Amino acid sequence: MLDGRRVLLAVTGGVAAYKSAYLARRLIESGAEVKVILTESAQEFIGAQTFAAITGDRPYTSLFSDERSVSPHTELARWAHVIVIAPATAATIGKVASGISSDLVSATLLAAQRPVLVAPAMHTEMWEHASTQRNIEQLEADGYEMVGPFEGPLAGGDVGIGRVAEPDEVVARLKELMGTPDNAKRLLVTAGGTREAIDPVRYVGNRSSGKMGHAIANEGAGRGMAVTLVTTSDEPVSAGVKVTRVESAQEMLEAVAAVEADVAVMAAAVADFKPSDPSSGKLARSDGLESITLEPTPDILASVVARDEPPFVVGFAAETGGVERAVAKAKRKNVDLLVYNDVTEEGSGFGTDTNRVVIVNRAGDTDEWPMLTKQEVAADLISLVLSEINPQG
Ligand code: CTP
Repeated sequence: MLDGRRVLLAVTGGVAAYKSAYLARRLIESGAEVKVILTESAQEFIGAQTFAAITGDRPYTSLFSDERSVSPHTELARWAHVIVIAPATAATIGKVASGISSDLVSATLLAAQRPVLVAPAMHTEMWEHASTQRNIEQLEADGYEMVGPFEGPLAGGDVGIGRVAEPDEVVARLKELMGTPDNAKRLLVTAGGTREAIDPVRYVGNRSSGKMGHAIANEGAGRGMAVTLVTTSDEPVSAGVKVTRVESAQEMLEAVAAVEADVAVMAAAVADFKPSDPSSGKLARSDGLESITLEPTPDILASVVARDEPPFVVGFAAETGGVERAVAKAKRKNVDLLVYNDVTEEGSGFGTDTNRVVIVNRAGDTDEWPMLTKQEVAADLISLVLSEINPQG
């Protein structure tokens, strides 16, 4: 299945473009979220409205004039977990092989750091031309995946090689490509605010929504990692993510201890203190309550850092002051990366869909990211982690 996968479908201008409407439908039926780019010549063969009706989202058609985005090529490249070009014309293949970025499809591909599946379609003579074959070799050398073309009837009554892969073949190939491989990196994510019982009804808690942690878990799964999410939150989780729901810091500690990981992203807002003697029955107002005695909760992140074979650890620091505290915290907590944000800043607090973060590394260097959606922060963070743990690839 393609549950939770974000597929960017780039349709270029050939008669086979009509099949991509069915491909979009099949992708959605397989659980994927789909956005579509149409080149100008694709629109000679099929209308944007067809894709809008199928995907629920108007196709992107221009690098410049889309009120949804000032930079659609970079935003779409970052949004996608995988990109499919179907059909891919000789012209688009040529552009991509040469790194030309003169329209939205070619610019998006140049900006993309995601797997790309190319489904060429053209007349046999064009396919067999030395320049097309050279370009295909170049795409393969650059890491692009191919599906087709196949032999069969072509436009204009001709028969030969050049037929685009059928939608079901493209979907099958995508599933193969996007399946979680046995050697996938194991990602552990903690998310949400813990709840420390005062009595069976009341708790000590915090304002964390879990949105950031869930976005990271979903992104990791979308990018082919084997993800376990330990969370207190009911925010959506994509189908590829294994979820353990917990309430308290102690439960989170135990759930985390059961998970082996190559990467741990500790996005949970763990309560630092818990009532030392929670009541087993509901406390009544008439009984009065002078005070609640608190005791420290276990440090879950520290337990992960202290493993014999610690994973690559990313901590979070939601602060109300300057980044200096986060730099000191990164050192003190001995993490590989620390994601700092100022929760008093507008658009960066709990429950928002956006976040402005600063990344602190082991050396104490800081990298300020612009205001992004939490999904974008998640995408960039996973890219950063993957490049840190696997600098070659
Ligand atoms: N963390 C954790 N378990 C705890 C406390 C924190 O796993 N009991 C993790 C958080 O998920 C976060 C990081 O540690 O990734 C930093 O959390 P924070 O609350 O900012 O740090 P504290 O150690 O509580 O430091 P302070 O209260 O001094 O800011």
